[in-house]
Amino acid sequence: MSKITAVITGIQGYVPDYILTNKELETLVDTNDEWITSRTGVKERRILKGEGTASSDLGTKAIVGLLKKTNTSAEEIDLIICATATPDMLFPSTACIIADKVGAINAFAYDIMAACSGFLFSVATASKFIETGSYKKIIVVGADKMSSIVDYTDRSTCIIFGDGAGAILLEPSKEGLGIQDSILRSDGSGREFLHMKGGGSQKPSTHETVDNKDHYIFQDGQPVFKAAVKSMADVSEEIMERNKLTADDVAWLVPHQANKRIIDATARRMGVGDDKVMLNIQKYGNTTNGTIPLCLWEWENQLNKGDNIILAAFGGGFTWGSIYLKWAYDSNN
Ligand code: UT7
Repeated sequence: MSKITAVITGIQGYVPDYILTNKELETLVDTNDEWITSRTGVKERRILKGEGTASSDLGTKAIVGLLKKTNTSAEEIDLIICATATPDMLFPSTACIIADKVGAINAFAYDIMAACSGFLFSVATASKFIETGSYKKIIVVGADKMSSIVDYTDRSTCIIFGDGAGAILLEPSKEGLGIQDSILRSDGSGREFLHMKGGGSQKPSTHETVDNKDHYIFQDGQPVFKAAVKSMADVSEEIMERNKLTADDVAWLVPHQANKRIIDATARRMGVGDDKVMLNIQKYGNTTNGTIPLCLWEWENQLNKGDNIILAAFGGGFTWGSIYLKWAYDSNN
């Protein structure tokens, strides 16, 4: 009997309507379009407006579209994993809230927190549930309302992040397609360079934490940049080597969209040309757990059954990793 693998059988993204341009940011902080474009590659990002809106709303929109597109009823879903760095609340999990909103009454649900690597870690985790034969239909959704933790007076972070979500359906296959391999890494000593201080058990919310701006992203950009360039390139090269893939064998690199310069460095190390790199950072910025599924969603019509695809991510923690998968269906399905 051939081995069961987890294949992606559908993908759907969702971004909110409001477009925050570099021009508008110029009115908020001392920055300019030229600096942002040349240092990061971002031209605009989407923002979820409206009081009481949350990451679960982004994730719900993506999943509702995914269910419709794949002709799947919410009751059929066994498990929903939500990768998010901006949960609706500390608890319950955003996945539980999303499961309720979409009517996935038979699913169990939980969040995975690995900052910008969360979607990748979640796909690797979900694939194991499929490979063991335990579950048949799993949704992994990456959803982040980054604007809820961005300080729009801090020019070093507010230019990067945006809101968005993407969801995939994973199902079993015996055709040898789908998730082939994954490399997942973390190094918690990197936490000093990228974190949010307030609101957790170490520094519960007080008037003082609000006054200190402890509920916003803190990032020391340079060390994060250096670690991201090295780590993302290392794991992307390693996964190619151990699966005996040459650059010609790789159809697409799907990198986390944190900074175009990090993406370029990863592609260079892999020997993969720009024409094989999914890049939409100019439109959406860094949507944290949304970046990789939003790319796959936008490129879906160009993907063909059997395409070798490498996913790669780096984020707070530090966390990083790569996944090698074979795309399971032809475009325009
Ligand atoms: O997804 C999670 C992981 N995160 C990442 O991968 C992000 C990694 N880091 C980065 O992408 C980059 O470090 C940033 C985009 C955050 C910053 O770019 P940088 O090239 O590392 O800039 P820098 O922080 O070294 O700053 C260079 C200069 C500074 O001015 P001085 O001190 O040289 O006079 C900054 O004050 O650029 C200044 N600067 C800006 N100028 C205009 C910083 N932000 C801005 C800005 N507009 N928005």
